[in-house]
Amino acid sequence: GRDLLGIEGLSAPEIVGLLDLAEEFIVLNRQIEKKCTTLRGRTQINIFFEASTRTQSSFEIAGKRLGADVMNMSVSSSSLKKGETLIDTAITLNAMNPDILVVRHHASGAVALLARKVDCCVVNAGDGAHEHPTQALLDALTIRRNKGRIAGLTVAICGDVLHSRVARSNILLLGALGANVRVVAPSTLLPAGIENFGVEVHRSMASGLDGADIVMMLRLQRERMAGSFIPSVKEYFHFYGLDEDKLRYARPDALVMHPGPMNRGVEIDSGVADGPQSLIREQVEMGVAVRMAVLDALARKLPNA
Ligand code: CP
Repeated sequence: GRDLLGIEGLSAPEIVGLLDLAEEFIVLNRQIEKKCTTLRGRTQINIFFEASTRTQSSFEIAGKRLGADVMNMSVSSSSLKKGETLIDTAITLNAMNPDILVVRHHASGAVALLARKVDCCVVNAGDGAHEHPTQALLDALTIRRNKGRIAGLTVAICGDVLHSRVARSNILLLGALGANVRVVAPSTLLPAGIENFGVEVHRSMASGLDGADIVMMLRLQRERMAGSFIPSVKEYFHFYGLDEDKLRYARPDALVMHPGPMNRGVEIDSGVADGPQSLIREQVEMGVAVRMAVLDALARKLPNA
């Protein structure tokens, strides 16, 4: 379709095509002259109903490097009435004839709802606990560059799986490309029916990390926790925080990832986050390249392209 709303619905060849295209943009991004003209004359609006550092800035940089006019709308979620206001917002923006809308929203499904009300391409930059497709693409690109492949790797996704759109998109993408995906979390942080996603479920880091090639940590999303999901942050770190001792359960050449923002000392120890096995900074670089690839691919579907 003309939108990118999730990894769900993308075929393995489509995913690999986007990763291959992103490789070309990594080369461009390391040059002094970083601009090309794919989106020249086009208007891209980034509308984030929820906070972002990495995704918003990298979509802005990506659009500008492709030659688009990029506008950032910042929306304070406190002034937002879900549903009605979202649709009004969509209709208002649509009247400005944008070519691409990049949208983040705190409600699952909100980006798909908005996409139905506008005429332009819509990219999901994260919707509630549903999907964050460009994050999964940048994670896959980072893994492929460091391990040479995705198929056959064992990837342990650890922590707050329940609230994580990153986990959901990664489970779909890595599964589609043939990785063995595990989730590692206490029962309170696992969604019901997670077994049906084709993942192995582990409740201890010792078993979940055993033989893992990639250890992907998730942020503990305390802002989405109303009740008692964890006994205390200290206890959570003791059992599920990735420190050097727990990392030894994984393969000696295992690599560590985190989508950011990190809570150091909550789900990951600083020494590991900044250590020799960490890919966290490389993930950010891949984020710009992947978002350029996604925008470039969508540009080809625009009218008169
Ligand atoms: N990983 C990620 O989506 O980070 P931001 O919330 O800072 O965009």
